Order: sequence, then C-alpha cells, then structure tokens
Amino acid sequence: MRILPVSSGKGGVGKTTFALNLALALAKTQSTVLIDMDTGTSSLRNFLDAPVERDLFHFLKKGTSMEECRQALPLSMDPDRAFAKFNFIASPRGFVHDIVNFDSATKNKLVQAINVLRADYVIIDLKAGLDTHVLDFLPISNSGIILFTPGLRAATLAAAEIAKAILFRMLNIMLSAPLVRERYFPADGQPAPLFQRLHDFLQHGQDPEAKNLDDFINEAAEQFPQDNFIRVLRYYVENFKVYYVLNKFNTVAESVENTIKPLVENIFRTVSSRVSFRNLGWVVENEEIKKSSETGIPYLVRRYYQKRETPARVLDSDDYLRDLCGLATKRQPAQKKPTLKDELSNQIDLLRSIYICNAGSDPETNFDFIAAAIKEFSAYSNHQFGMKHIFSEGEFLERFQARIG
Ligand SMILES: Nc1ncnc2c1ncn2[C@@H]1O[C@H](COP(=O)(O)OP(=O)(O)OP(=O)(O)O)[C@@H](O)[C@H]1O
Ligand SMILES: [Mg+2]
Repeated sequence: MRILPVSSGKGGVGKTTFALNLALALAKTQSTVLIDMDTGTSSLRNFLDAPVERDLFHFLKKGTSMEECRQALPLSMDPDRAFAKFNFIASPRGFVHDIVNFDSATKNKLVQAINVLRADYVIIDLKAGLDTHVLDFLPISNSGIILFTPGLRAATLAAAEIAKAILFRMLNIMLSAPLVRERYFPADGQPAPLFQRLHDFLQHGQDPEAKNLDDFINEAAEQFPQDNFIRVLRYYVENFKVYYVLNKFNTVAESVENTIKPLVENIFRTVSSRVSFRNLGWVVENEEIKKSSETGIPYLVRRYYQKRETPARVLDSDDYLRDLCGLATKRQPAQKKPTLKDELSNQIDLLRSIYICNAGSDPETNFDFIAAAIKEFSAYSNHQFGMKHIFSEGEFLERFQARIG
C-alpha cells in the first residue's frame, strides 16, 4: 500500500477535485481509497453526491472499523462498475467539534487505522494551510503531493512553506533524539553553539550567520568531520524531494514563471540547494471539471459514461494517433521506402507528440498520466515516494537513532 496525502499552501487550488479524480484514475486498475481529512467542511461530499452510510463519525464515535466506513460509488452513478476498485471514506457532514479539532489520541487512532487499510493506494484530501492537522498526516518524509495553481503566485510561496515545514519538522525531531541531546546539548554543560543555532533556525527560519541548511551542513562538516549525525542529516536533506502537480495548468511559460521558478528559488534560498523537485504532471483548467463539481458526479465518471455514449471513431491506428495529435494534415506520402532507422525515429517522434498532446489538453489523459507516474514512482520499494506507513514521531526516532548510534 502507498499513502499519498494531497496538500497545498492555500485553499481553493483544487485539492479535493484533484484528490477525487486522481483516486478514480488510479482505481481504473488498482484498489484505491480516498479519505476526506478536511474534517469540518467535508467538501468531498459536495463534489461526490453518493449516499454515505458510515463516515468518520462512526469510526471515531461509534466503534465502527475504518474498513467498514469504506463506501463505493452507487450503482446509479457507475452501472458498469467501471470504478469498482474505488472507495471513499467521508468525514461527517455536520460540525462535530472534537472531530474538526481532533486531539492527538484521535489523530493516532486515525493514523493507525489508515496504516492497516487494505488497498493499493490511499489518497488523503487534507485541509488547506499548515496546522498540525495537516502536518501530522504528511508522513515524516516527503511522500505527499503538493498542488499548485500557476495562476496564483502567492499560493506557490505558501506551498513552498509546506515543503519547508515538512523537512524542518523532520529535522527538529532528529535534534530531539536522546542520542543527539546527550552529545550536543549536555544537561550539565553548554550546548554546542552550532547545534543551538541550528535548533533555533529550525524553529523560526533565521540565523545571524547561516542563510540556509547548506551553510549549517558546511559549517558542521568542518567542525565535526567524522560525525555520524551530520552525515545522516545531510543524507536526509539530499534525499528530500518535493513532488508536485500543477492544477488549472495554462501554459508552460506561465507555469515556469509563476510556479516552478519561485518555488525552486525560494526553497534553494531559504532551505537548501540539495532539495530536489519532481513534477508528476498537470491538470488543465477545464469547464467540464468545474461542471462535475456542481453536479456531484466526478469528472472521470462523467467522462467514462459520455465516451460510452459516443464510441470512438474507427480509424486505422496510425491515422487515429496522427489525427489525435493534429499531425494528420502534415502526413506526406512516402517518397521512398523508409529504413528501419527512419521508421523507428518516426515512431518515437509520434510517441513524443502523443505524450505532449495527450498530457497537454485533455483532463482525462492528464489524470491518467499522473496515475501512471505515481505507479512508476511507487513501483520501486526503496523509492521514497508514497509511504507504506504514516510514521509516528516515536517510530521515526527509533529508526533514526539506529542509524546514528
Ligand atoms: N482543473 C480544474 N479546472 C476547472 N476548475 C477546477 C479545476 N480544479 C478545481 N476546479 C474548481 O476550483 C474550485 C476549488 O476546487 P476545490 O474545492 O477542489 O479546491 P480545494 O483546494 O479543495 O479547496 P479547499 O481549500 O476549500 O478545500 C471548485 O469549484 C472546482 O470545481
Ligand atoms: Mg478541499
């Protein structure tokens, strides 16, 4: 199982819409559960007009297991059972104070139940912003998907803050490890100044000398060249990746200017140039997606049944692909028999164009592309993307101490 929380710096960028359709895209082939963790507003229930017999209220208050809270699409919405592998777990429709503002015991109960769900993928739709309700569900590491809208520069910077908060939180936990405290913060003496400064930097992001983590890592490598903790710290920073999706994608130029550049610049300047970034794909701005949220039938479900009503044109497959890519008019009659090399390069060019046009303009292929990228990234067992387990602080500390001990 892989757990993929979806977060964003600001509200309204399309998290719920994206999480819902991504879960449906994955569920075409893999069993996928979507969990509505935006307790309080329950926007999932506004976008998915399906009867809910049991939700997180039953799990938290009535002793129902989380497995029993899984709901399928109603037969009236999916008569072909094309999305039979899709399940969702809704949060309560009304305002239930201690579910909206859940305490750490409730959080642990939720995390433990999520960790043992029987599914290939668990997608978690989180609240917007940066409180502990969000951060605690972003596994201690970098397995979540951050959603941006290229149209909103402020949202990009807020999303950079999320990435930074996840990494800093992880490093803070590392600094609190008993082995680290003993070594650098002795109860009977002065803490090592560098570590006291790092501790303060991780709390409020400022230091009189160091701009970012790179400066601390370099300084520490000089002062403590053989130190195992520094080596592990550096390893965690170097392996930290920000996985993101662009929603309401408009143009490549706009995405680069408003999203990718400010994101990378901000993280490099304030966090570290060792952090890396992975774009999992984009979703175009599309009226049908908007309409779906108004009708309560998810975009991909509507699309499946629309396509069933209007069967695809029958063309010979090459013509069809060329037509799809707008290349049909460019096709020239063959002048001479192409060589194997020509043909291979034609096919590769054609595939590239298919990729570009498919991933570019049609939301269904956008979602299929992202689902394929996710499957690819999570196929490697040692790859960090998609945690198999949401670690508690205690579990993380245990593993970390074993590495530095
Ligand atoms: N790719 C898209 N094209 C067109 N409209 C979209 C797209 N993605 C989302 N929307 C629309 O944007 C609005 C906000 O989407 P959504 O509620 O999913 O955002 P959110 O990030 O979950 O918001 P919140 O922070 O309030 O939970 C909705 O009206 C939705 O239909
Ligand atoms: Mg939402």
